Amino acid sequence: MKGKYGQVRPETIDDLIAILGKDGISTKKSDLENYASDEMPFPKPHLAQVIAKPDDTAAVSRLLAYASKHRIPVTPRGAGTGLSGGCVPIYGGILLSLERMNRIIQTNRENFTATVEPAVTLETLHSAVEEQGLYYPIHLGEMTATIGGSVATNAGGTNAVKYGVTRHQALGLEVVLPNGNIITTGGEFVKCSTGYDLTQLIAGSEGTLAVITRIILRLSTKATQKEVLFIPFTNLQDAIDAVPEILRLKIIPYGLEFMERSIIEIVEKYLDEELPYHHHEAFLMVIMEGESTDAITEYFATVESICKQHGAVEAMVPGSERAKRKLLYAREQSYHAIKRFAPMEILDIVVPRSQIAVFVKQVKEIGQEHGIPIIAYGHAGDGNVHLHPVCVNMGTVEWLNKLPQLMRLIYQVGIAMGGSISGEHGIGMDKKNYLDIEISPAKLNLMKQIKKAFDPNNILNPGKIFDL
Ligand code: LAC
Ligand code: ZN
Repeated sequence: MKGKYGQVRPETIDDLIAILGKDGISTKKSDLENYASDEMPFPKPHLAQVIAKPDDTAAVSRLLAYASKHRIPVTPRGAGTGLSGGCVPIYGGILLSLERMNRIIQTNRENFTATVEPAVTLETLHSAVEEQGLYYPIHLGEMTATIGGSVATNAGGTNAVKYGVTRHQALGLEVVLPNGNIITTGGEFVKCSTGYDLTQLIAGSEGTLAVITRIILRLSTKATQKEVLFIPFTNLQDAIDAVPEILRLKIIPYGLEFMERSIIEIVEKYLDEELPYHHHEAFLMVIMEGESTDAITEYFATVESICKQHGAVEAMVPGSERAKRKLLYAREQSYHAIKRFAPMEILDIVVPRSQIAVFVKQVKEIGQEHGIPIIAYGHAGDGNVHLHPVCVNMGTVEWLNKLPQLMRLIYQVGIAMGGSISGEHGIGMDKKNYLDIEISPAKLNLMKQIKKAFDPNNILNPGKIFDL
């Protein structure tokens, strides 16, 4: 496919400057290097030939029309916080950074919506809507991620158990198609049965179908209280067995996370802080929000009694705001902690939530057979398990050689249990070699036809999710 692409020549740069203005183009080596990878472990940097930074939708449209005409690959990018290499320009060409399109167009208190440009970050949106008593319920480990990037990846986060994932907040989009046409989908409404749901097709398409230039998001109201219940168990199976019963309580928690002792130890080292009950084997963390502390206390008492029936050793509500923040921060920092701890890979496989403990057990056995320990934690409430095969007792080269076979076996186990390869990080370039385990040839063929309908010249984020 590479040979079919047009080259970026000096006159291309002149054309791009004419299209976007001098501020909209960079070919500086340091810029090209800064946009060559994302947060994926073992990044494989790829340099674009030029960085384009349009500042409005019309400019994106002109840029894509030009790239289509000259068949130049275009890789869209938000904050570069993705974990699957989705925004890495593996075919070179144009890196389309949306960073200048970072305006909140409006928040609407009547319709409970926010309309934003793609480079608005989660933290910026959270503060902006919270000032108005509104709430954007997606909370990722990385709050500097952009809304555009999180829609493109269909990012999940800690509160999917209550609010769903990013696609459930995306009510409408403005996007630019690879040929430069601008279309809008959905709107400031919740229901829509008018033809194919293009909002939901483009959400999660990892920048392969269209460039997202505006997003209409669903908002809710912000609860006044947020509390945490931390529950140590003697083993993971007991902890996971308690989860369905917690969820049957009609009140849905804001987050329901699990951790094993090994990740707690790694986070403690990273933060240089001790966490409570750290000598136990497994933990549930129930995050709850509501209007009164009494209601939350009552809910936690019921959760505690369920967990104790399932063998929980204790159930602890942090005694101070600081202790609560420390626990939440420890969970948030898990990925950063393990990245510092050892060379590792991250999987974000999702399985039916009742299967988490059996799945983790089987996966660890497979890891052991390969001499590779696997550290597990994740989103117990929605079945999304983070697995980190770590390189601790062998050389990196040997570990890297063993990794693809290990990953394939893990995915096979998860998919046989009714799971899916990626719950929230996307396929990008990191996981496309495993897609065949889950996606049948007929389904893959349909996906490829969809891609070709949007992007007949395959200029938009080529080489991601699958190869054409
Ligand atoms: C988390 C990220 C890695 O759950 O998805 O911490
Ligand atoms: Zn996660």
